[in-house]
Amino acid sequence: MTAFDTLTDILTSRYSCRAFKSDPVPRATVEQIVTAAGRVPSWCNAQPWQVLVTSGDETDRFREALFAQAASNSSQPDLDWPRQYTGLYKDRRRTCGWQLYEAVGIEKGDREGSGRQMMENFRLFGAPHVAIITSEADLGTYGVMDCGGFITAFCLAAQALGVATIPQAAVAGHGRFVHEFFGIPDNRLVLAAISFGYEDADHPANAFRTERAPLGEVLEWREG
Ligand SMILES: Cc1cc2nc3c(=O)[nH]c(=O)nc-3n(C[C@H](O)[C@H](O)[C@H](O)COP(=O)(O)O)c2cc1C
Repeated sequence: MTAFDTLTDILTSRYSCRAFKSDPVPRATVEQIVTAAGRVPSWCNAQPWQVLVTSGDETDRFREALFAQAASNSSQPDLDWPRQYTGLYKDRRRTCGWQLYEAVGIEKGDREGSGRQMMENFRLFGAPHVAIITSEADLGTYGVMDCGGFITAFCLAAQALGVATIPQAAVAGHGRFVHEFFGIPDNRLVLAAISFGYEDADHPANAFRTERAPLGEVLEWREG
């Protein structure tokens, strides 16, 4: 197996896990994941990411407080939400939503069912751990970009070690609450959470895989 085959295998086997077993991930494994993910490039090698990881009762304390927060408060993210999803992006967003709802048996138009499934975000999908990813506010968009690379690498490194992940903007949507809960200072932007643990492979929420656009829609080739 070539290095490319190994990498491709990790890239294609990773998926966003939405049901976890309760078993904790050993701290040494989490440290391996964070160390490996830290090898991503960043502008000026600033490495603007910081990772706050919960385990045990602390995850449950956060889960309960976050769920209560999301059930009765509107979102207050540090980063502006996307302005809108139109055209292709709207279609892709719909498709992955329908895939999830279909997998868990929620019919089109069942607003209550889809709302209930959406609220699973705030139960961290039952994961035993959540990582809160923050960036230095002064580094602005480029810091956020660097951290995006870190988030991806975290998910891939975890996958390589048999640990399932899901990045969650939904949690960052309650960024103000996350700051207050963990005492995160205002110079750190709450970008996303990554819930992680061992997959519950039998859960229907984990039974579908998303598609990717064909190469022709992504790659534009020019030669003179
Ligand atoms: C930055 C980021 C934020 C995301 N936020 C959420 C989220 O809040 N809730 C959720 O269910 N999935 C979330 N996802 C997962 C995406 O829906 C998922 O990556 C996409 O549909 C592709 O599917 P895959 O990860 O299974 O390949 C997020 C992914 C990324 C990269």
